[in-house]
Amino acid sequence: MLNDINGYTRTCGLIGNPVEHTLSPVIHNTLSMVLGKNLAYVPFHVETGRLEDAVKGAFALNLLGINVTVPYKSDVIPYLDDIDPLASNIGAVNTLVRTEKGYKGYNTDMPGLYRAMCEDGVKVKGQKVLILGAGGVARAVAMMLLDKGAKEAIILNRTVEKAQSIADEVNHLTGKKRKFAKALSIDAYDTLPEGERYLAIQATSVGMYPDCDAAVIEDPTFYKRVHTGYDLIFNPPKTRFMELVEAQGGEAYNGAKMLLYQGIIAFELWTGCQVEPWLADKVYERMQK
Ligand code: ATR
Repeated sequence: MLNDINGYTRTCGLIGNPVEHTLSPVIHNTLSMVLGKNLAYVPFHVETGRLEDAVKGAFALNLLGINVTVPYKSDVIPYLDDIDPLASNIGAVNTLVRTEKGYKGYNTDMPGLYRAMCEDGVKVKGQKVLILGAGGVARAVAMMLLDKGAKEAIILNRTVEKAQSIADEVNHLTGKKRKFAKALSIDAYDTLPEGERYLAIQATSVGMYPDCDAAVIEDPTFYKRVHTGYDLIFNPPKTRFMELVEAQGGEAYNGAKMLLYQGIIAFELWTGCQVEPWLADKVYERMQK
């Protein structure tokens, strides 16, 4: 189904290690085909130690845009010509856009998550939010929540020091006396006020395929405090976390739409097109096959 390739075809690609299971070619090649863009999207497996060569080589080969995935999202930053302020705050870049002198780095993961949440009808503004996890993804989620006007973020993590360091960093950005973010040991969830219901964003790696039967918190009493659970994992499509949220009457979503919209926003940056909801739905359908 790849578009007809000819001498005018522009190339975009994904660099990472591994890249073999990526769904990004489905997203970008479907968008290109439907919108009549002469663009091909190809995954490139980049070996450890070859990242700088890969970015320079991509520029020399006139690649229009590049997505960056694990493990290079932070490592790629020194090889950029410019960086968008949001990506710089988050400290991770997943999209490179060609400029005259090199590539400018963006983060479309968090805008992608926000757009996915809007599409799913999940409100962020004014909400009290629990973040499960304190890795790179959780840190980015905390920045996004602050940016989009959430009321409060409580970061729960096994290693509470990591949660605290994210909370300190985010609170520092607000420049206000009122603390936006707090840290809590993941075992201390029962100290959360009873009767409060939160939006919970699952940003740990627990429950990811093939570890499908696991959730970072198993206790049903935790899930009584959750009105909406958003798991950033998309494989399996129904995670244990989602099942536990639903079992207590909450709404649950997986990370597939975040993946969809990070791709759509990258495509919009590369081509200047605006991807409308009907087309996003069509791409989403293709991703499920
Ligand atoms: P990413 O960059 O994708 O966020 P990461 O930095 O490795 O990945 O973070 C993984 C997160 O999952 C961390 O919050 C980690 O908790 P610790 O900071 O305590 O290591 C969490 N995590 C992974 N395995 C876990 C487990 N078995 N139980 C609880 N938390 C776990």
